[in-house]
Amino acid sequence: MDNKLALITGASNGIGFATAKKFLREGWRVAGLDILPSSLEESGYTHYIADVSKPETLPDIGGVTALINNAGVQNANDIDVNLRGTINATEKYGLRPDIRAVVNVASASAHTGAEFAEYTASKGGVLAYTKHTAIQVAKYGATCNSISPGGVLTALNAPVMNDEKKWEKIMSLTPLKKWATPEEIADWIFFIAAVNKSMTAEDILIDNGESSNFHFVW
Ligand SMILES: NC(=O)c1ccc[n+]([C@@H]2O[C@H](COP(=O)([O-])OP(=O)(O)OC[C@H]3O[C@@H](n4cnc5c(N)ncnc54)[C@H](O)[C@@H]3O)[C@@H](O)[C@H]2O)c1
Repeated sequence: MDNKLALITGASNGIGFATAKKFLREGWRVAGLDILPSSLEESGYTHYIADVSKPETLPDIGGVTALINNAGVQNANDIDVNLRGTINATEKYGLRPDIRAVVNVASASAHTGAEFAEYTASKGGVLAYTKHTAIQVAKYGATCNSISPGGVLTALNAPVMNDEKKWEKIMSLTPLKKWATPEEIADWIFFIAAVNKSMTAEDILIDNGESSNFHFVW
C-alpha cells in the first residue's frame, strides 16, 4: 500500500482528524495539512502547517493519490478558505498524473441556501468546482466528487451544540433526530475516495433528512 498517499486539509480537528485516522487504519500513508499542529503521532502520518488560502505557504508534497479538501471555516474568510483554498490545494496537489481521487467537503447549506451568506456561497462554489475538477482529472483515470454534510458533531458547531434551547429546536427540525459523527463522515469520504471507481462529478447529501423536512400543503 506504499504508493497510496492521502493528503487531507484541515486534518487537525473534527472531520479532517477522523478522516486521517480512517485512512491510516486502512493502511494508507497520510499527509495532514492545517494552520494548527496535530496531536496525531502515528507512523505513516506526516503533518504540515500551512494555510490553504495562501498558496505560497503550501509545501511541495509529491505522489498524492487522494486529495481530501476538507479545511473550512465559518467566519469572515469563508470564501478565501472554503472555496479559494479548495482551488489552491487542487491546483497544487490534485491536477497531477498520480491523482486517483479528489473529495471536496461542501455542505448541506450549498443545497438549501441556509446559514451565513458567504459560507453558503463558498460551499455552492465548491459544488460547481467539483464538477469542473472531475473533467480535469478524468484524463488521469481519477474521480472528483463532493459530500454535503448537514450537522456534524464538531467544534465548529459549539455555539448551538452547547445551547440547550437551540439544540432542542434543531432536533425538532431533523427527521432522524441526530447529527452525524466525524467518524461517520470519514467513512463516507474513504468510500468515495478509495472504494468508488465509477462515480464522478457528483455530490452526496448526508444530513439526517434535514433538507427534506419541507411542509406539504394540499
Ligand atoms: N461540522 C459540521 O456540521 C459541518 C457541516 C457541513 C460541512 N462541514 C465542513 O466540513 C469541513 C470540516 O469541518 P469541521 O466541522 O471538522 O471543522 P473543525 O473546525 O473541527 O476543523 C476544521 C479544521 O480546518 C483547519 N483550517 C481552518 N482554516 C484553515 C486554513 N486556512 N488552512 C488549513 N487548515 C485550516 C482548522 O484549523 C481545523 O483544524 C469544513 O469544510 C466545514 O465547512 C462541517
